[in-house]
Amino acid sequence: MRKALLDILICPRCLPQEYRLQETISEGIKEDIIEGTLTCHQCGAVYPIRQGVAFLDPNEPAQPRTQNRYETTAVVASYLWSHYGDLLGDELATDAYTRWAGLMAPGPGACLDTGCAVGRFSFEMAQKFDFVVGLDNSHAFIRTSRELLRQRRLELALPEEGLLKRPETLVLPDSWRTDNLEFIVGDAQALPFAAGTFAAISSLNMVDKLPQPLVHLAEINRSAKKIQAQFLFSDPFSWSPDVAPEVQWLGGKMNGRFSGRARDNIIALLEGKTADLSPAWKVERDGPIWWKIRTHSNHYEMIRSCFIKATR
Ligand SMILES: C[S@@+](CC[C@H](N)C(=O)[O-])C[C@H]1O[C@@H](n2cnc3c(N)ncnc32)[C@H](O)[C@@H]1O
Repeated sequence: MRKALLDILICPRCLPQEYRLQETISEGIKEDIIEGTLTCHQCGAVYPIRQGVAFLDPNEPAQPRTQNRYETTAVVASYLWSHYGDLLGDELATDAYTRWAGLMAPGPGACLDTGCAVGRFSFEMAQKFDFVVGLDNSHAFIRTSRELLRQRRLELALPEEGLLKRPETLVLPDSWRTDNLEFIVGDAQALPFAAGTFAAISSLNMVDKLPQPLVHLAEINRSAKKIQAQFLFSDPFSWSPDVAPEVQWLGGKMNGRFSGRARDNIIALLEGKTADLSPAWKVERDGPIWWKIRTHSNHYEMIRSCFIKATR
């Protein structure tokens, strides 16, 4: 973990109080902490840093959760194709991540990519902002993103059919800046950052994957600067009771709070039409972006993700 992060990290377990973390470094290389801990002297929580990865998810010890589908080799391969298929020269790849990136204006300050998966949007934002953090609660995704960050290349085995795999080598473009980027394990519903840290924040295709979507938006609102901030949201709104009870959904239901379409409800939330998020955001644009996930050579999922770009 880059030491630069120490200035902005807080204990996610103590939220809504914000307490800084104290680092103990047992192994480091220049600006990187390889092995060590981050301790909250208020609640006593100790967050490990192992093999360069900081584990700041307040809900768990630093063990990979095998029951989480985002920890599996197959899903990591799917997302690597989804994020980098264009760099692999695959004619079936989409331009979704460059389109999402194109919605963000370059600027000074730090950017946070929540639910970054294998990191494509974070790499894109590193070309536009001074410092970027990719955060995800999947250990496998964060380890993969960090390996790509450190090596600038990754050997992939893309599922073709049954047990057959296609080897590919992913190489980051030479022109890409990567010295201003870090990936950490954390919970998008309890962000380990001080209020007002980020000039830009994204939440791409994850709000419907969270047990508490509104808490996630409130956390984004807290972590973003109060002025001169950009927020890029996108989601297909695949609400499911397996992920969150209906009462937590931000749309897609007939009755109760957040009945109707999530796009309309989230715009109302951002624009301050409810008391949940303040200061209010101004919605600049919204629309669909087609995004594709690949399971194997003959199986793809096309997803219409509805983006909302807001500033304040
Ligand atoms: C559908 S994927 C989208 C990934 C990426 N943003 C994209 O658009 O390609 C959802 C992501 O959210 C992550 N995720 C799910 N629950 C999370 C949580 N509580 N905190 C952080 N990340 C979470 C998953 O690991 C996964 O990377």
